[in-house]
Parts: sequence; C-alpha cells; structure tokens
Amino acid sequence: MSAVVVVGLGWGDEGKGKIVDAIAAERGARLVLRFNGGPNAGHTVVPGVDLHSLPAGTAPPPWHDRVFRLHQVPSGIFTPGCTSICGPGTVIDPDGFLAELAEVAELGGDTSTILLSDRAHVVLQAHRDRDRLLEAARHATSPSLEQGTTKRGVGPCYEDRAAHIGLRLGDLLDGAYLDEYLPFFAAEQSRRLGAYGGAPIDARALRDQCDQWADALRHRIVDSFLLVRDALARNDTIILEGQLGVGRDVDWGIYPYVTSSGTTAGSAAAGTGVPVTAIREVIGVAKAFSTSVGSGPFVTEVHGAEAMRFREAGGSETEHEYGVTTGRPRRCGWFDAVATRQAAQINGCTGIALTKVDALDGFDEVKIATSYDQGGKSIDYVPSNTRAIGQLSPVYELFPGWSGGTRDVQVWSELPYTARVYADAVQNACGVPVAYAGTGPTRLAMAPRHS
Ligand code: GDP
Ligand code: IMO
Ligand code: MG
Repeated sequence: MSAVVVVGLGWGDEGKGKIVDAIAAERGARLVLRFNGGPNAGHTVVPGVDLHSLPAGTAPPPWHDRVFRLHQVPSGIFTPGCTSICGPGTVIDPDGFLAELAEVAELGGDTSTILLSDRAHVVLQAHRDRDRLLEAARHATSPSLEQGTTKRGVGPCYEDRAAHIGLRLGDLLDGAYLDEYLPFFAAEQSRRLGAYGGAPIDARALRDQCDQWADALRHRIVDSFLLVRDALARNDTIILEGQLGVGRDVDWGIYPYVTSSGTTAGSAAAGTGVPVTAIREVIGVAKAFSTSVGSGPFVTEVHGAEAMRFREAGGSETEHEYGVTTGRPRRCGWFDAVATRQAAQINGCTGIALTKVDALDGFDEVKIATSYDQGGKSIDYVPSNTRAIGQLSPVYELFPGWSGGTRDVQVWSELPYTARVYADAVQNACGVPVAYAGTGPTRLAMAPRHS
C-alpha cells in the first residue's frame, strides 16, 4: 500500500497543485483524491513532458506547458492512467465544476478521468449568498471582524454538512428522496438566508436545477470507497491532495480567520476513506517565503516595495502572488519556520517540498524566522490565542542570498551553494528533510534532493 499525502504547511497557495502534478507523474499514480475544500481552492498546474524523452516524431500532449488554474478538479488529471476524484470530504459547486471542465478541455486537458464522490456536498447559490451576507454582517459590526473569505459558499456548505441538513451529490441521483427532502431543505435554507435579509429559495426551481445537475454529472458521481478499496488492494500509488494549509485549518489555524475544513494529513484519511495506516508518506508543501490571502495575523508579513518584490518575483504572471480564485494580491513575508515546523509536526511530515526557491534569486540576504518574541520572552510555537499571535515579533536568522541560477534547475547539486544552505536551514529549523526544491512553475522545474 502506498498512499502519499500532499498538504499545505502555510496559509494556502504553497504550490500544492504543482507538487501533486509532478509527484503523480513521477510515481505513476493511479488515483489522486482531493480530500477537503471546494471552489475556494486555486491550484496552478503547468504540466509538461520532457521533450527529449519523446520518441522521434511524437508530438507532446496538447496540455504540454499550458497553464491550468484548477479549483475543484484534482491535479492528477495530467498523469496518464490516473483517475482523479473529489473525495467525500470535499464540497462541490456543480455549475463552477462544469465550467471548469469546459476550460480544462479547451486547453487540451482530458476530463474523462474526473469523478466525484457521491458523499461530497453540493454548494448552492444560497451558500454563496450566506457567505457574502455573513461577511457583510461582520463588517457592519466591525471591519476587523471581516474574514476575507473567498465568498464561494464553502463555509455555509460545511456548516450545513455538520448540522446534517446538507445536500449530497449522490442525492441528486435519487428523485424520490429529492421529492421528500427538497421542500424541507429549501425551507431551511430560506430560514437561514432570511436571517440576513436574503430572498427565500423556491423548492420547485431548486428541483429543476438538481435534475439538470444530475443529467450533466450522473456519469461522474461514484461511491469512491470502491475505487479506493480496489486501488489499495492492487497496491496502486494513491495521492491525497489537500486544499489550503495548516495556517487556515479549522482546528489548527488562526481561528476564526480559517476555512471550514481540516487541511492536515489526519483529515486526508477522513476525507477520502484511505486509512491512516495506508499513508506511507506525508509531503508538506512550503513556499520559500510566506504568503496569505484574507484577514488574520501574519507574523513575518512585510509591506510596500518589500512585499511587491516577493509578489512579482519570477518571470511570468503565472507565478505572481495574486489569488487564483479571487485575484486578490497575496500578503507576503519571510519564511516562518516556527509556524512551518509546527505544521510539519501536526501533519507528521516525512518530507518538505520547498517551492519558489527561484523567486528568491537575486536577494542579497534571505531571512528565516526561527522563534517569536512575545513581550520579551522567546517562544518556539504558535500560540492558540489568535490575538496573541498578532502581538508577536519574528526573530530572524539571516543567510546570504544567491545572485541567480536556480531557475528550472532539476539537479540538487546544480543549485547555487547558498541556495542549498538556505534549504538546509529550512530543514534544520523544521526538523524535516527538504525533499524537493521548486525552481519554476512548470512540472519539470523541481530538484529532488537525491538527484
Ligand atoms: P496551491 O493553491 O497550493 O496549489 O498554489 P497556487 O497555485 O495557488 O500558488 C502557487 C503559485 O506559485 C502559483 O502561481 C504557481 O504557478 C507558483 N509556483 C509553484 N511552485 C513554484 C516554483 O517552484 N517556482 C515558481 N517560480 N513558481 C512556483
Ligand atoms: P488553496 O487550495 C489561499 C482563505 C480565504 C480566507 C479563509 C476562509 O489554493 O491553497 P473560505 O472561502 O475558505 O471560507 O475562506 O481562507 N482561503 C484560501 N487562501 N488559498 C486557498 O486555497 C484558500 N481557500 C480559502 O482567503 O482567508
Ligand atoms: Mg491556491
């Protein structure tokens, strides 16, 4: 049995999509399952093949070197022979999903291998409305209470799931159940929306919508348990793809500025049905500097031109630090080894993929926060009290920069010496081996440590 979990160790956007795509291809994964989140995600994947490895006269696949901005579609779709599933722990916006399939197909991606768990929950317009109205209510009380959600309805959908009043994808295929359930469901949604002044839901219109979604998605909605069971029995390589990172995990993140799902390896088992004992490897994805979108404390944050240097590092817009889902500029800062170490420990990481090392090319000096100063006291963990996090100052260790030369490097020993020193410092500070250095947005731009 060989299940590998890929999780974010920061506040999201660490490069999980790129790493899942690269590792799935490298290891010939047969299943990639997303275990949490939904349309709030934005995973950038630039898949490509080594043109020298193609037999003479063979054209590369149509998706070669194209930029895919995936939201709900798992990042395994560019691995031949791999089935990609949105697992039971995810929430799915059917219209957004169908639009995304069309975009992926337009760019030459194969969408025939994408399945949806019948246990995943359906995100409705009513959830998006509640998300927006709740944010407005927070803002009206005090602007500092606004969370900066993606407004994709993810929180309200998970809220309904926990209150067991949700609608699951499998329900769309059961007309008799919908006849019985939707009048209650629509009334309940209307009550919740009405509390914020939202308009009521029409049960008949919702039923029509469910029937349309059922027609469009019927062939993709499956009981993923059976696929997982069979893949485990065959000893297939399975990759569990996370959404977001520990910094915004519902239990371990900067509550209440968090998402509504679990982002860690523990949740990967729960959200896919791959048992914890089948997980052999947990790869934590960490960016070589920190970014965060949305509200909440950010200990190593920098501002102005210093932030812009991180945000727009690298040669292409693909890799600039603007949200894939909302287009918001990401907040930027130095690498936070305290938060990353804690995230790696909670996940039981076996390795770190350190992405965007190339984005630091040209910095004279690079910094890592190895502890926090809390009113004169040094601490080496992230306090559970979010307001207390906001009062911490980072304590940095400084390292020499490197003038350039990491871009697209695929062999560890070809990284500049000082870049390797930086990766070693991350490794020492986090207590987990850095197994890969990311050197560009494309699949092949990655140096495994043992190359
Ligand atoms: P995800 O949500 O964790 O999948 O990450 P996003 O795709 O939202 O954000 C990561 C950003 O970094 C994207 O723009 C990627 O194209 C880019 N990226 C990922 N790895 C690397 C890398 O090693 N080098 C560079 N330059 N860009 C990278
Ligand atoms: P990926 O998978 C970065 C942030 C939002 C907000 C908080 C809650 O691409 O890493 P939500 O809409 O989930 O209720 O918002 O979480 N957020 C993300 N930040 N990357 C994401 O996904 C995110 N998904 C949600 O900005 O602060
Ligand atoms: Mg992202």
